[in-house]
Order: sequence, then C-alpha cells, then structure tokens
Amino acid sequence: MYVVAGASGNTGKIVAKRLLAAGKKVRAIVRHPDKAKDLAEQGAELVSADLGDRAAFEKALAGATGLYLLSPPDMGAQDFLKERSALLTSVAAAIKSARVPHTVFLSSIGGHQVSGTGIILTTHAGETALHEAGVGFTALRAAYFVENWGSVIPVAKKDGVLPSFLPGNKAFPMVCTADIGNTAADLLLEGSGAPRVVELSGPRDVSPAEVAQTLSKILEKPVSLVEPPLDAVVPTFTGFGISANVAGLFRDMYAGLASGAVAWQGGSAVARRGKTSLEETLRALAR
Ligand SMILES: NC(=O)c1ccc[n+]([C@@H]2O[C@H](COP(=O)([O-])OP(=O)(O)OC[C@H]3O[C@@H](n4cnc5c(N)ncnc54)[C@H](OP(=O)(O)O)[C@@H]3O)[C@@H](O)[C@H]2O)c1
Repeated sequence: MYVVAGASGNTGKIVAKRLLAAGKKVRAIVRHPDKAKDLAEQGAELVSADLGDRAAFEKALAGATGLYLLSPPDMGAQDFLKERSALLTSVAAAIKSARVPHTVFLSSIGGHQVSGTGIILTTHAGETALHEAGVGFTALRAAYFVENWGSVIPVAKKDGVLPSFLPGNKAFPMVCTADIGNTAADLLLEGSGAPRVVELSGPRDVSPAEVAQTLSKILEKPVSLVEPPLDAVVPTFTGFGISANVAGLFRDMYAGLASGAVAWQGGSAVARRGKTSLEETLRALAR
C-alpha cells in the first residue's frame, strides 16, 4: 500500500492515479476530502491528516510500502524556512517511527544547495530532515514547473504580453507536473532500489521567449515578453496576498535562477527527462 501526501495537489493527484492504474492500493492524505472525490471513485482510501499533526500523519503511514511526500506551500507564512524546517523534521520522525521503507520526496533543482536559492531552501530542509532521520528516500529534484506560467496566461490572453521574472533569452530547465507525478510513481514502484537523487527536467530546456512564442501560436495572437525588474517581485507577489517573507524568498529564487547560481547537482545524481512538450502543457493551461 502506497501513501500519497498532497493528493489533492498537482503532482500528488498524478502520483495517486498512476499507482491506482498500476493496480496498487493507495491511501491518499487530504485535508479536504471533497477535493479528492475522483481518487476515491478510482479506489483510493482517503485519510484526513495535516502534515503538521505528527500523530495523525504517523497513523496514516501504518503499513505503507512507500510514501510520496512534498513540502507543502504556505503563501501566508511569516517565517517560511523556519516553519517548513520544523514541519519536515516532524514528518521525517513520523516516517522513521512508522518504518516506511521508501519515500519519494519532491525536491527542486538546487535542493542540495545551502544558500542562494531562496524558497528552494524549503526543499533543502526536507532533504536534510529525511537524511538526518536516516530513512530511505529518493529526492526527486524537479525543474521549474511549466505550470508556473499558468498565473500569467490570463495576462497574455487579455493584453498580449507575458511578464517574466526569468531572463527572456536564457534557456531554463522546466518540467510539467504530469511528468513529475508519473516519475514519482515510477520511483515508488522501483522501491528502495530507486536512485537516491533524480534530477528531472522536461524534454528540453526552454527560454521564456519561447514560452511567449508558443503561447502566441496557441492563442493565435501576438504575445510579447516583458521582463519586469527583480525589484518588482516582492510588490507583485504581496499584491496577490502572498506574505512579504514568502515573496522575498521567491525574489531570491528568481535572482539565483537568473544568475545561474541555482543549479543541478549532477555527478552521482541521476538525470531524467519528462516526455511532455512545452506546447502540450501550455495548451492545457490556456484552455
Ligand atoms: N513550482 C515550482 O517551480 C517547483 C519546482 C520544484 C519543486 N517544487 C515543489 O513542489 C511543491 C508543490 O507541489 P504541487 O504543485 O504538487 O503542490 P500543490 O498543487 O500546491 O498542492 C499542495 C498539496 O499539499 C497539501 N497540503 C498543503 N498544506 C498541507 C498540510 N499542512 N498538511 C497536509 N497537506 C497539505 C494541499 O492540500 P489542500 O488541498 O488541503 O490544500 C495540496 O494537496 C512546492 O511546495 C515545492 O516544494 C515546486
């Protein structure tokens, strides 16, 4: 039986569906069962637990062969790094106590780095907590999500411009959540024989300028890229209700991506590439 945390989210739902399609038993951890009705209909057991509730989480892990875990977002956090570090330390202790043989943890490009990566430090905290607890795990380090562009597609539709805090003409590794979820499920099925670190990007690296060109094709109208300065990140994000602390961490991440400071580890980490094209994901987002 596999336990999937964040099962109502982008990646968790794909993980759960792929495991169910492979004929496996799935226990989906959700805070709001109504968001995972489709999983229940496909045979998943729904368990309500907050990752911050150590006892409830540990109970949800009983009998697990494998676990899919992420560092959940919290856009209102006042000290996000400290809060995530505490939460993931508690989560790692529960995994150890429940003797889960293999966890696939969704980390990020730069998840091995100790500074200069901004919000990615939350995934570094997760890798560190799991490592220090001594549990068996695979760090699935994903590239920048293609789905991040979803929030600015309405602007492209309305005004014909695509705002980007990433430099327009530099190619970045990007990957869609379907490829992440499917890879995570495959790693869970591989079990404790799966590689310790997998670094996952899409079929090829792409520039924000290419994202704009592709959207232009999909929307059948000109879409030009605009590059606001990095100083605009915090006011833009806080304007959407994100806390100043979290917005500052996003700014640091964009600065690190732009400068190239945020990077793959390489070496012993296994590099994998997803199959889904940029256009396919953008088309789905633009619907
Ligand atoms: N965006 C990127 O470019 C990028 C790149 C690399 C890695 N990542 C990692 O990917 C993560 C996001 O993955 P995603 O898109 O699959 O997530 P998502 O769609 O934002 O979903 C988050 C899931 O976590 C659940 N959740 C939130 N807080 C929880 C808590 N305290 N206890 C239990 N469950 C909780 C949510 O449940 P509810 O439905 O109850 O809210 C939801 O199912 C990020 O946090 C980051 O660590 C992101």
